[in-house]
Amino acid sequence: MSGQPNILGLGYYVPDSVLTNPDLEEMVETSDEWITTRTGIKERRIAAEGQGCSDLAFHASRRALKDAGCDAGDVTHILLATFTPDYCTPTSSCVLQGQLGATRCQMAADVGAGCSGFIYSLDLARGLLAIDPGAVILVVGSEVCTARLNFSDRNTCVLFGDGAGAAVIGDGSEADPCVVDALQHSDGTLGHLLPVGQEGGSASPYHLGQAVSEDFFIQMKGRELFRHAVRGMADLSTKLLHRNGLSTADVDLFIPHQANLRIIEALAKKLEYPMQNIYVNVDRYGNTSAASVILALSEAYVGGRITSGDRVMLTAFGAGLTWGSALLQF
Ligand code: ACO
Repeated sequence: MSGQPNILGLGYYVPDSVLTNPDLEEMVETSDEWITTRTGIKERRIAAEGQGCSDLAFHASRRALKDAGCDAGDVTHILLATFTPDYCTPTSSCVLQGQLGATRCQMAADVGAGCSGFIYSLDLARGLLAIDPGAVILVVGSEVCTARLNFSDRNTCVLFGDGAGAAVIGDGSEADPCVVDALQHSDGTLGHLLPVGQEGGSASPYHLGQAVSEDFFIQMKGRELFRHAVRGMADLSTKLLHRNGLSTADVDLFIPHQANLRIIEALAKKLEYPMQNIYVNVDRYGNTSAASVILALSEAYVGGRITSGDRVMLTAFGAGLTWGSALLQF
């Protein structure tokens, strides 16, 4: 036992179907050139008809459990970060528990914190492990963003994609990777910059037979968000490093939220951190919201980009507004 929140396993899953920029040119007035230069995105994955948040989470979770050498029966808690759950209720975390056959699970809960949901959940898992050192916690980020995309709005439909990632957190051995520290932040006065479901929720419910309006889908004030995203992720990551007596020079790999390559480049510039040490997959998956950071972490890990001894920084920014950073030691 290490007495630390260890990362016992990682896994990710993306749907097979690919939507490219040229495909989007056929749907809205846009161009591969505009999307590439403004966002860095070339393609994104799209969930199949009937494939919900829990289905993507299931595949990622199975892979993470296999990597951890665990059975579903070992899982004591499930935290599933998403803003695109299968239903209002049952929660996607409960649906996932049933799909996995995680019969020993004491708590399954969805975490809604926009794109920061995975890092928020990782911090909650640290708390749960402090209460119950024997816990085996499945922390998942899973999104079917396309279910909340208005495919006639070029401002948003080119930016998002679907995917999932999962981590198994528990008290392992000294040799296992661990979560060293994490910091979160939120600002509820800025929620209007990225609303989803301004209609269709309890504040503005739909009535039987009413047609869905564009207010049901993702809307965003991109330029303003851009500024907040860069500042929020840079400031929080710097604070987290300082709190641990470290600087950016001590970080081997930075894994930021994959919303836009220009945000990532601006973050690198603000932190004076080399782009070659920043993991980027936004070109292949677009913005997968709460799945983004754990999908990138798992892919980097499975792809051999992370080796033993590496210090890895995660940071995310999203709707709410919310933002968070986590420092990992591999
Ligand atoms: N194709 C062609 N033209 C487009 C498209 C498109 N897909 N989308 C917008 N445009 C047009 C606009 O209509 C506008 O035209 P106008 O000047 O005639 O009005 C023009 O392009 C410029 O629009 P801007 O919004 O100013 O473009 P910008 O360079 O700011 O890029 C973008 C927009 C990509 C959304 C950018 O602002 C961004 O990425 N912002 C940050 C988003 C973010 O922070 N996300 C992360 C946190 S939130 C989350 O992840 C859920």
